[in-house]
Amino acid sequence: MSIKHFLQFSDLTLSEFEYLIERTRFIKHKFKKYEPYHPLLDRTLVMVFEKNSTRTRLSFEAGMHQLGGAAIYLNTRDSQLGRGEPVEDAAQVMSRMCDVIMVRTFGQDIIERFAANSRVPVINGLTNEYHPCQVLADVFTFIEQRGSIAGKTVAWIGDANNMLYSWLQAADVFGFHVNVSTPAGYDIDPALVADTNTHYTLFAKPADACDGAHLVTTDVWTSMGYEEENNARLKAFDGWIVDAAKMQRAQPDALFMHCLPAHRGEEVSADVIDGPQSVVWDEAENRLHVQKALLEYLVLGRV
Ligand code: CP
Ligand code: NVA
Repeated sequence: MSIKHFLQFSDLTLSEFEYLIERTRFIKHKFKKYEPYHPLLDRTLVMVFEKNSTRTRLSFEAGMHQLGGAAIYLNTRDSQLGRGEPVEDAAQVMSRMCDVIMVRTFGQDIIERFAANSRVPVINGLTNEYHPCQVLADVFTFIEQRGSIAGKTVAWIGDANNMLYSWLQAADVFGFHVNVSTPAGYDIDPALVADTNTHYTLFAKPADACDGAHLVTTDVWTSMGYEEENNARLKAFDGWIVDAAKMQRAQPDALFMHCLPAHRGEEVSADVIDGPQSVVWDEAENRLHVQKALLEYLVLGRV
């Protein structure tokens, strides 16, 4: 039987996402009512972090405990991964001792090599190219607050990074549109977008990308792993802040999302992220609920 991994958003079908959204509602409801739900009793999740994290670690670790299982945290600093053990060997060993593995690393090629040598499902907890768990939480948050996302418009204000590439894949799966405005020099790499994906439009001016949007979203100007570019990025991203003026170009009831951590005064103004249209705390919480549904699905299939 082939193992199902979640290495990028396009790994699952619309029907699978619709199932996950219904399971997320069910699992979240149980959590809110303090009703124990332990489908992964005695199962173990291994989490491998080669980059820092607050939300991803917390949501996977808490989520696995809440499902009745256990979670083990490994990082590069104090595991053999940091001393050059081949990723293929690490995957062979780890996957013999657990039921599912989450990996946060640098290049997508690393997680693909890891998955190719794993006996158990592998989940992408962020790579340079993709952050599918976050976009799953974001799509769920939109649907929870506004209903179907099909046919809606999402404005992306920022560089072409792991979040944007996952949004573009989600748009292709769910049938919504992404208005993309990236600063010059930080634009989309066509190699990371399917030729058949027609669900996005490029805008030179970030305010124009916000016109009529149902959701405006952005991210840090410097993603993890690109820190040496920080000074150049601060200059290049001038004008790419999501502020009240840009939110006014969107639908009156548009939502604002940010995967966090955020830098107020850089990519978003404080009045927007802390204002009434912002759903960033629900978005962060929903990482927990969608990933519990994902863990259940990858380990047990449809229940
Ligand atoms: N949004 C997100 O993935 O946050 P962390 O880097 O804190 O995990
Ligand atoms: N694009 C950001 C997301 C952080 C959750 C990064 O990769 O650092």
